[in-house]
Order: sequence, then C-alpha cells, then structure tokens
Amino acid sequence: MKNYKIAILAGDGIGPEITAEAVKVLKVIEERNDVSFELLPAAFGACAYFESGSAFPHQTKAICDEADAILKGPIGLSHEDSKRIPIDEQPERGALLPLRRRYNTYANFRPVSLPKSLGHFSPLKAEVIGEGIDLVIVRELVGGLYFGEKEMGVNDAGLRYVRETLEYDESQIRQIMQQAFKLASKRRKLLHNIHKSNVLKSSVLWNEVMEEVAKDYPDVQVVNMLVDAAATALCLKPTQFDVMVMENMFGDILSDQGGGILGSLGLMPSACIGPDKAYYEPSHGSAPDIAGKNIANPYSMIGSVAMMLENSFDMEAEAKNVWAAMQGVFADGYSTADLSKPGSGVTMISTVEFGDKVVEKLRQMPK
Ligand code: NAD
Ligand code: IPM
Ligand code: MN
Repeated sequence: MKNYKIAILAGDGIGPEITAEAVKVLKVIEERNDVSFELLPAAFGACAYFESGSAFPHQTKAICDEADAILKGPIGLSHEDSKRIPIDEQPERGALLPLRRRYNTYANFRPVSLPKSLGHFSPLKAEVIGEGIDLVIVRELVGGLYFGEKEMGVNDAGLRYVRETLEYDESQIRQIMQQAFKLASKRRKLLHNIHKSNVLKSSVLWNEVMEEVAKDYPDVQVVNMLVDAAATALCLKPTQFDVMVMENMFGDILSDQGGGILGSLGLMPSACIGPDKAYYEPSHGSAPDIAGKNIANPYSMIGSVAMMLENSFDMEAEAKNVWAAMQGVFADGYSTADLSKPGSGVTMISTVEFGDKVVEKLRQMPK
C-alpha cells in the first residue's frame, strides 16, 4: 500500500467549510484504492495569526516540509478586518507568499473549464461558449511585482511614496515557459503568450526567452497577445484559447476573469508546482461575504484534490473520476447558491450536500 502525508491548511473564511468536503473525497479515494493518506492539519492564515501571532507558524512549516503534498484552503480577511493585522503579518504577505517562496512553486496551473452542457452557469451567451470552454492559465507564481523589492516612505519633497519592482531573470522565465510548452504539446498544441511588451521591458525579455524555448517545441503554435487585448478576448471568444502563459500579476487578474466567464470563482481550482513540492488551492479567496453559511461552492477545493491526485500521486484515473463525479452532480441539476440563481432551473444545495453528492457519485464510479 502507498502511504502519503498531506498537510491540510484549511485557512480562513469559507476555507474550513470547503476543506471538509475535499477531505471527504480523499477518504473515498482511500476506500477505493490501495492507498492511505495521513492528513496533517496545520494552522495557516489569519486564524493562525490570531492564535499564535504568526500566519505561517513554525509548526506548520515543519508539517509542510514533511508532507508529500499540501492542500490549502483560501486565506485572508475582509478589507476592514485586515486592518486588525499589521501589514507585513497579514496572511497574504505573511503566509501565502512565504509558502510559495519556501517551495518555489513557480508553476501555477489554473484550469478554466465549462462543458457546453453547463453553459447556463456562464454569463456568456451560448454562441460564445460554443462547444465549451476549456483552457488553462499557466501563471508564473514566484516572481514579478509580488516578490520584487518594496519600499514605502517619505521622499525628499516630504511626500509619501512607494516603490515596487518587477524583476525576472531569464531562468525564471525559461522554467515557466517549459512548463507551458510541455502542457500545450499534450493538449491542442496552441499556446497564447500573454505579455505587455509595448510598455514593460520585463515583457521584452519574457518574449525573447519564449521564442528560445519555442524552438524546442516546433509543433506548438504560438500566438502572442497583449494582456489588455487578452482580457477582452477571454470574454468575446474564450474558445480560441487552450494554454495561456503569463507572468504573476497578469495571471492573478486574468484567472479571476476566468472564474467570471464560467459563472463563479467557485469553479476555479489550481495546482502550484515547484521542483520538490506542490501545493493545491482554489484560485479564489476566503469569500468573507458568504463564510459560515454552508453555501460556498466546494468544487474549487475538490478540483484541487483531483489535481493533487494526478500531479502528486500519479492517480490520473481517480482524478478523472473526481471530475466526473462533480460534473455528474451538476448534470443532475444541482449546485450551490453561486450557480443556482432563481430562474436558472438549477436546484440549490448546500456546501455539505454538494460534497455528499460528489462522494455518492464517486463511490458508484467504476475504478
Ligand atoms: P474572493 O475570491 O474571496 O471572493 C470574491 C467573490 O467570489 C465573493 O463574492 C465570494 O463570495 C465569491 N466566491 C469566491 N469563492 C467562492 C466559492 N467557492 N463559492 C461561491 N462563491 C465564491 O475575493 P475577495 O473577497 O476579494 O477576497 C477575500 C479575501 O481572500 C482577501 O483577504 C484576499 O486577500 C483573500 N484571497 C486569498 C486567496 C488565496 O488564499 N489563494 C486568493 C484570493 C484572495
Ligand atoms: C491568488 C490570490 C493571491 C495572489 C493573494 C491572496 C496574495 O489573489 O492566489 O490569486 O494574488 O496571488
Ligand atoms: Mn487572485
């Protein structure tokens, strides 16, 4: 039997609610396979800060270090509540970015996927969705503005000022490009390179390195697109995209837009892959507006489990079954509040009910 240790960082807001549903799915995977998961819960985020004074405590670091993979719920507080924590201790700067840096999880895969049959979830018209949306945003996750030097102060003229730097070296760009090309060559062999080289010099280097890496993948067609134009294209014709590669900040923004064209951020799982360790998290935040109400959509978290099964544990067939189980629940006409607005014809179920239905479907799936 294979034994894997999984660090479970439930996080803040809706984090614990959607993590509980993901854990149910892990238990069913154990029942169906010759595998055991040792789940190692650890405090992470604002909850950890209020408990111990650190959003990423030493003990959590130790648990993550020994884990074979990490499942992470969203972290963070509402805009107002964030002010209760000093700026550098806030969970985004004090926990999430340090987690990404610690394991150098430079490759962030954010699938944006909606079959034609679920087109009614999307705010886009049926003719725009066509045969379905199925693209992956490959986001560089440990460079750019997020990790550049930062300074706040008062300048010589007595004015408050701020300076943040956007830095990449060619090796950082090459490694994310290699991941993007590799993925594109396994899919439709079409890669959209998203950049802003008309303004940013970082994009000029980005594009140069992209062209060098492209030589190793002659069968992948590259389309270069400015990031602002890409934002429009994602709404007007999302089906033109298959794999899109972009730097950290662009990927943050366009992946949330991805959730928008699907109809909910609750449909956005992700995988964050480094050379030695990977962690898995929804693309969205802690949704303080709906926390504690049993209405959040756990698809993003359960989908993150599916990505973990495939990428960290080589359980591709079971990963497919998890996706199919969730699609099955939707196909039966059920979803959580985000995707079951009055008049949509979708029956509203709770977070827990969604998890229960997924588990029920999964148990029925042939192995
Ligand atoms: P958010 O992603 O939490 O929420 C935006 C909107 O989407 C809200 O209306 C929310 O209810 C909805 N939503 C998000 N996930 C949902 C789900 N699973 N089911 C149903 N609806 C869902 O963004 P925000 O409100 O701007 O940020 C809240 C906090 O989350 C902030 O502190 C932010 O820094 C943090 N954040 C954390 C992560 C992370 O941990 N990776 C990612 C993004 C934001
Ligand atoms: C995300 C989030 C994070 C980011 C924040 C919370 C630091 O928005 O994972 O998309 O900007 O990367
Ligand atoms: Mn984001």
